[in-house]
Amino acid sequence: RGRAAPRVRCVAEPIQKEAVRTRVKRNVNLGKLQAGYLFPEIARRRNAHLAQNPDARIISLGIGDTTEPIPKVIAEAMEAAARGLSTLEGYSGYGAEQGQGALRGALASTFYKGLGVKDSEIFVSDGAKCDISRLQLMFGPALSVAVQDPSYPAYVDSSVMLGQTGEYDTGVQQYRNIVYMPCTPQNNFFPDLSATPRTDVIFFCSPNNPTGNTASRAQLEELVAFARKNGSIIVYDSAYAIYVEDDSPKSIYEIPGAREVAIETGSFSKYAGFTGVRLGWTVVPDELQYEDGFPVIRDFNRVMCTCFNGASNIAQAGGLACLSPEGLAAMQELVAFYKENTRMLRATFTELGFSTYGGVNAPYVWVQFPGRSSWDVFEEILTKADIVTTPGSGFGPGGEGFVRASAFGHRKNIVEAIDRLKKLYGK
Ligand code: MLT
Repeated sequence: RGRAAPRVRCVAEPIQKEAVRTRVKRNVNLGKLQAGYLFPEIARRRNAHLAQNPDARIISLGIGDTTEPIPKVIAEAMEAAARGLSTLEGYSGYGAEQGQGALRGALASTFYKGLGVKDSEIFVSDGAKCDISRLQLMFGPALSVAVQDPSYPAYVDSSVMLGQTGEYDTGVQQYRNIVYMPCTPQNNFFPDLSATPRTDVIFFCSPNNPTGNTASRAQLEELVAFARKNGSIIVYDSAYAIYVEDDSPKSIYEIPGAREVAIETGSFSKYAGFTGVRLGWTVVPDELQYEDGFPVIRDFNRVMCTCFNGASNIAQAGGLACLSPEGLAAMQELVAFYKENTRMLRATFTELGFSTYGGVNAPYVWVQFPGRSSWDVFEEILTKADIVTTPGSGFGPGGEGFVRASAFGHRKNIVEAIDRLKKLYGK
């Protein structure tokens, strides 16, 4: 007593020095992947630039991530659904794995009116990218795949992960056993199908990410005829369909004969600012069959029931509000805002003397830097103008020499980016 109590110190057990390894073999397919997924790699380089230049005010024209608030009428519907969950009457647990009936019906009547798509053929999900992986899981490792080159990296990377491909060939910068269909200014961004070998699956994105180009009706008729002749399945990614302002098709089902050969994915991400909310859908027509006559929709349903528990009920309430008359008008307003950004960026690059593509029916402008490496141009724009873009070669070897500028951004940032680009590349 009277003396300070002895101090008790907690001493951690010494950390074991020897590294312990499991005896689990790494999935060889994951070992085939080159570097990281494109967008985290871009974020890494952006952060490295920021670490060296802490005062840099970086503007992103990189990843296609929406920036403007979700329209009130849609956010309020999600708010009401969330509040409802705290009441006995409004609470709901697991929903149908395929999505709420009302939302499936609204998707069919809004985006597929007159095209013969049934509510029961629409699977609501947490996004088109996730559905692409689940489709790959359904297809399995033993089939062949074709992609547009350049293309959205999730198609190729998920093929590699599933084991559909061989090793990466650094010489041509392509994975073996994938058919890359070149889409360049020379062929008007539509592949020469007469020179394309048959594959089981053809991934096709229109309006296209990254080139911003849209396939015409005649081109899609050619694609559907090609798939029918070869007995292939088209996975048609229509995530940017709402941006189409001319008479290009918004859905592959506008093309007669597509129901027997095409699956379509769609997304609310770029329509309503749902990149973080997560809501999309996939259409699998009843008529689509494997070679033995088994309906593909039954397998996709099986995959969804096993690997997915249905989209968030709050997000689905938002999706339903998107498709109300007020929601549709609000989405159109949002899309018009991004389209004006796109027009401004496209006009700037054109004025600066670059050959510029896309940027009319899509929120992406595809800019050519002849004879230069895409990653070098990316670094130049990042280090000299503090602007993040996306290097074209990140979308496949066909993107080399191009850079993609995304039009998702606050207007003041787009205006500022234009100013900096003019300083960097103006005469
Ligand atoms: C992109 O920048 O290409 C998009 O963010 C892709 C996506 O929607 O996942």
